Amino acid sequence: MNIEQNIIDEIVDKSDIVEIIGKYLKLKRSGNNYFACCPFHNEKSPSFAINANKQFFHCFGCGESGNVITFLMKYNGQEFTEVVLSLAAQAGIEIKQDKKFSKEITQQQKQHKTTLFEVIAKVHNFYQNNLVNASFAKNYLTTRGLSSEIIKKFAIGYANNTSNLLSGLFKDYLTNELLVEAGLVIVKEDGTRFDRFRDRIMFPIKNVKGQIIAFGGRVIVNGEPKYLNSPETNLFNKSQELYGLYEAQKVIRDKNQAIVVEGYMDVIAMAQYEIDFTVASMGTAITEEQIKKLFKHCDNLYYCFDGDIPGQKAAWRALERSLMLVTDIKSVHFIFLPEEHDPDSFLRKFGRNAFLQYKETKSLSLTKFLLKQLCAEIDITSNEGKAKLISIAKPYIEKIINAPALKVMLKKDIAELVELVPSALESIFNNRSRYAFYNLNNNQLVKSKKQIPKFNIIELIILNALKNIAWVVNYRLPENIDNLSPEVQEMIIILDFITTSDSPAMQDLTDLFNFQYLNLTKILHQQDQQDFIELTNQDFIKHLDRLLGRETKKMIRIPQIALKSNIK
Ligand code: GTP
Ligand code: MN
Repeated sequence: MNIEQNIIDEIVDKSDIVEIIGKYLKLKRSGNNYFACCPFHNEKSPSFAINANKQFFHCFGCGESGNVITFLMKYNGQEFTEVVLSLAAQAGIEIKQDKKFSKEITQQQKQHKTTLFEVIAKVHNFYQNNLVNASFAKNYLTTRGLSSEIIKKFAIGYANNTSNLLSGLFKDYLTNELLVEAGLVIVKEDGTRFDRFRDRIMFPIKNVKGQIIAFGGRVIVNGEPKYLNSPETNLFNKSQELYGLYEAQKVIRDKNQAIVVEGYMDVIAMAQYEIDFTVASMGTAITEEQIKKLFKHCDNLYYCFDGDIPGQKAAWRALERSLMLVTDIKSVHFIFLPEEHDPDSFLRKFGRNAFLQYKETKSLSLTKFLLKQLCAEIDITSNEGKAKLISIAKPYIEKIINAPALKVMLKKDIAELVELVPSALESIFNNRSRYAFYNLNNNQLVKSKKQIPKFNIIELIILNALKNIAWVVNYRLPENIDNLSPEVQEMIIILDFITTSDSPAMQDLTDLFNFQYLNLTKILHQQDQQDFIELTNQDFIKHLDRLLGRETKKMIRIPQIALKSNIK
């Protein structure tokens, strides 16, 4: 089904992004912006921002951004049309479903995309020709070691330092909406226009068909930002594209492997050294879509990020996103360069063979990297350290859902580390009592040994909360949960969710959050079975109080709670 652009615009106009995201995330206001913990990556402090004026969201942590439609598509995993239709319904906008009409629209949209491609191609051609006469830019590329063949292969260009450079190319520069839509021209609030890219080396970003969909522009020598990218457009979805994939795809398939680096210049330098099966994720952490895309071309991925701290963080995020996607055939590896290097500088200092040898001898498999990282702060020689390893490894192991054999191997490795036979480890993993049980002995609910609860108190609280939403609504949950223990923090997130949504679809919560300590799926299963101890409201409050009071010594008792507990 096709919907006209102006209707889509109207729908976006009439939907308030703050209100809509507010239904899903807990927002904190700060001026015209709202902040929340980002639903698209795992974080404890909010870096997901909504700009109410611009009706736009952006996560400073993972780089996800877009408008209300993009948000709902990503958040709910819905198709574009699905989102638009539901927003239209909410906004009371009627959408006609005329098949003949929509066929025409499809045609029109196709045409529109084609012209957009044409505009970008024309601009690119222009930038590319520009480079010939831009000796400063050319020299810069030469000093970075790029040959003219490589410059040509990656179709590198240059945008002069002129604010309306493209007006020489487009007579209708002042009215051409395609230039704006393609992200090449920016319209200021007063209506004046200027080129987005000025005095920058231009790297065209292509889709797998080789059509140019966007640009990355690098300042020459110094300036901010170092790299400027095209915005997201109809043609360019940053989280799905990989820089260099078009150029590398054939070799990637032939070699059945791909190297993933961070930057444009890394891809190009690699190619210069004939390591031409390299792609870049363009600044942000690699996404699941990108990993899936690469796995369509080959079985072996090598992440090779910069040796600095951000590079190491990027590697860990790549690991987290790969766990669910690896199979017993498709695997990922990690190359950790020396701290002061990125792939480009490493190659230039040590050369091709050194890099390839480094890759062969120093790269870590997913399971090796995982274990190395998990053990990093643990004294694995002590019993406590061993126990801790088992406990923190579990959520990661559970994420490996498509590689059964690998999962067994990983568990075997862990068993060896903690000096247990694999079956003993397995039985620990299967043990439901993952947290110390609270002593419920003097609770009148536990009448005989048979009735010893199957759940720890946190699980019991959640189950009872689901059954009696009003109890949670009446209980003032703490605002600041940073000082609470991780499992209590997760409990609060769940309780918060129960109170904020009308009919809490708990499954959404499991999809959304990576609960590391609470097994929400298990809890929900038990909820269906109705097979748990039902607390009284008083006991509910008492246990919750105790849990929070116990965990946060500094927490001020909220009078409301004290009052409630006194009602007998
Ligand atoms: P060179 O300095 O040219 O070697 O680039 P680099 O690839 O070493 O740069 P760096 O490691 O700083 O950044 C890696 C990637 O992050 C770049 O290729 C860009 O995709 C992205 N990046 C870096 N700086 C910026 C920036 O200021 N803005 C944006 N949007 N992206 C950036
Ligand atoms: Mn670099």
